Amino acid sequence: MQTQVGIVGAGPAGLLLGHLLHLNGIDTVVVENRDREYVVDRVRAGVLEQGTVELLRAIGVGAGLERRGLRHEGVYVSFKGCRHRIDMAELTGGKAITVYGQNEVVRDLIEARAATTRPLYFEAQDVRVGDLDASTPVIRFRHRDSEHEVRCDFIAGCDGFHGVCRPSIPEGVLTIHERTYPFGWLGILADAAPSSDELVYTHHDRGFALFSMRSPTVTRLYLQVPPDEPIERWSDDAIWDEMLRRMTTSDGWTPNVGQILQKGVTPMRSFVAAPMRHGRLFLAGDAAHIVPPTGAKGLNLAASDALVLARALKSFYETGSAEWLDRYSAICLRRVWKAQRFSWWMTTLLHRLPEEDAFDHQRQLADLDYLTTSRAAMTSLAEQYVGLPSEVSFESVGL
Ligand code: FAD
Ligand code: DHB
Repeated sequence: MQTQVGIVGAGPAGLLLGHLLHLNGIDTVVVENRDREYVVDRVRAGVLEQGTVELLRAIGVGAGLERRGLRHEGVYVSFKGCRHRIDMAELTGGKAITVYGQNEVVRDLIEARAATTRPLYFEAQDVRVGDLDASTPVIRFRHRDSEHEVRCDFIAGCDGFHGVCRPSIPEGVLTIHERTYPFGWLGILADAAPSSDELVYTHHDRGFALFSMRSPTVTRLYLQVPPDEPIERWSDDAIWDEMLRRMTTSDGWTPNVGQILQKGVTPMRSFVAAPMRHGRLFLAGDAAHIVPPTGAKGLNLAASDALVLARALKSFYETGSAEWLDRYSAICLRRVWKAQRFSWWMTTLLHRLPEEDAFDHQRQLADLDYLTTSRAAMTSLAEQYVGLPSEVSFESVGL
């Protein structure tokens, strides 16, 4: 097989890139090692920045979002038992976030891909990339017992943090910046109507908790737990006890309780590999960087990378100039580091640190007091939470 851009991974980054390139008449082959149900059912992020929503609409994948997406113009920060609302729309000239599950985004993008009839291989086994420095790099994999080789002009490594693309880059090329946190998140989906129209980020002496949702009947909640906490240690009753203890506020607000539909523990990490390119391999999304989930930036960064890479590849195919390809990594990393800083700040602001002393605790409370009383501080949070402006215009990718 031959293609212009070989894409490894059918997560948000790979699927969005594939669709943006399709709209520009650029040929792609997408290779994914999991099956379609697994990719669609995986429960992950849920918060889309204003720009991510606009991008999905602009590429014609906004119908589900329009029907089932929940637009939030504000967000609550809760500490010392009180909720404080930050009016994001008022502070940002009308911008908002939209709650729409990552699995729904991925389902919509897979349907859009299928409609193009361009190839998307699920359940590809033993996926490898090679000849990254040559003019035609290659993706090799096995599919239904036959060996495949895809010769490409470029490869997009969109295969997430545990993928094969980043480890295929020779030793010494990448600089890695990493921080692991001494806690994880226990997340649940519950069959319960959300008791608040907007998200609630809670600072509590027993640790962080987050109230979110997926639909008018499904609540999504998170709890700070020790890192690598075995989920078996938590009965459903114990989860609800702890959720309610941390989240209930002095005015009586509390999440609605319901049957737990799904539960799991996620580790917390900050990670950046730079540059996001080696030869003709370009890394995008979690393959290149991970943020702790507190700022809800992971999925949105994957979308931004895809947009910048589409811009660069379009420019190459239309003009023959590699100028945008050469700038890809620097453009993305500027945004990535701002999102890293924001996610790290939100994480350290709201979590209980195991080694924290009374000074750290008072500083956190002062930070929260300032955040919820200063218009400047609220504006800073709001503009980052709804998403900083894109480096690339939609017009430049033909939208
Ligand atoms: P991914 O979504 O990881 O997609 C990569 C794809 O590549 C996958 O489909 C994978 O199966 C495939 N792949 C992997 N290896 C190979 C291979 N060898 N060959 C072929 N294909 C391969 N972000 C938030 O903002 N909020 C959250 O609450 C949140 N929760 C999360 C919970 C978990 C458990 C995880 C892992 C992540 C979470 N994130 C969250 C982060 C967010 O989901 C990611 O940032 C986002 O999925 C990144 O998209 P991506 O396309 O770069 O990578
Ligand atoms: C969700 C996840 C996040 O990481 C976050 O900051 C807000 C909401 C969610 O899954 O709904």
